[in-house]
Amino acid sequence: MRRIAVLTSGGDAPGMNAAIRAVTRSAIDRGCDVIGILNGYRGLIEDRTMPLGARETGGIIQRGGTILGSARSLEFKTPEGQRKALRTLNQYGIEGLVVIGGNGSQQGSHALSQLGFPVVGVASTIDNDLIGSDITIGVDTALNIALEAIDRLKITASSHQRAFLLEVMGRDCGYLALMSAIAGGAEYAVVPEIPTDPEDVAQTISRAYDKGKAHAIVVVAEGAEYNAEKLAEYFKVHSDRLGFALRVTTLGHVQRGGNPGAFDRILGSRLGAAAVDCLLSGEKGVLVGLVKGAEQTTPLAEVAGKTKGIDMRMLELARVLDK
Ligand code: ADP
Ligand code: F6P
Repeated sequence: MRRIAVLTSGGDAPGMNAAIRAVTRSAIDRGCDVIGILNGYRGLIEDRTMPLGARETGGIIQRGGTILGSARSLEFKTPEGQRKALRTLNQYGIEGLVVIGGNGSQQGSHALSQLGFPVVGVASTIDNDLIGSDITIGVDTALNIALEAIDRLKITASSHQRAFLLEVMGRDCGYLALMSAIAGGAEYAVVPEIPTDPEDVAQTISRAYDKGKAHAIVVVAEGAEYNAEKLAEYFKVHSDRLGFALRVTTLGHVQRGGNPGAFDRILGSRLGAAAVDCLLSGEKGVLVGLVKGAEQTTPLAEVAGKTKGIDMRMLELARVLDK
């Protein structure tokens, strides 16, 4: 293989740049040219590219986001969009493609792979919902940003004896909410995977008040049926039973915008390099992820269109630790 391409797709994630750098530099090390595709699959359709070399990927390992840009492309979901993408790949003599992205992006990889193009996916999303990777690029940094918010909210909440609903990202996945609740010592995590009775949340908050706590923190995933707005609406009517006065904070994209920490820089570097190893050794149609501490491949057919689900042991841990 003489020439490969790399793109980043879907929601950006801190550590994507480390992965782009690793793909580029590992490929150069193996005598291969690298082309960067701008703005995800949209760039493949619209023929937007840039050459990538050692200097183009200098000074980026510490930067959040993605130097290639990312996008969501409805057109790429259509057979015509995928044909246009293949045309661009062939026009540049590209023989293999690395797709750095999350769940939807790896469905796109699978589609290209099924059309016969050699593709390797790299697991990268702050949601951590991809099958084939215990942890994905960007999660650790996003979690640390959520934690900083929880720590700060606790300070002001204690001063005023308040309860806070903190909404974090996670459209269909409660990983960020659950893990930041455990690491931040929150009273409750509301996740999309498990139906939540708002009464249960209300009782947890009022129990915290009765125990003499100075505050209560509920971390809510944006995709939960009772997201922060709906819970706040519910508590407006039932506020007398909470004990604490209630405030709501939504973190939103602040979580995605951080500079990557050490973990995501190293994970991005490892998975990016492993993706090049795969392509050059003829392994294709797979996702590269971290499984039990090692780089491992999983067929895209087993990854595409599925999600990992919530770890019930972690939900239990969150419950046990709230005292
Ligand atoms: P993420 O990768 O972060 O989960 P999205 O779900 O938005 O992000 O997907 C990113 C892009 O991947 C979409 O905009 C689309 O171009 C492509 N994609 C998603 N699902 C499919 C699919 N079923 N077939 C082909 N391409 C898809
Ligand atoms: O998939 C990553 C993610 O951050 C989700 O947690 C969130 O629901 C979504 O992307 C937000 O998408 P956008 O950046 O298009 O608003």
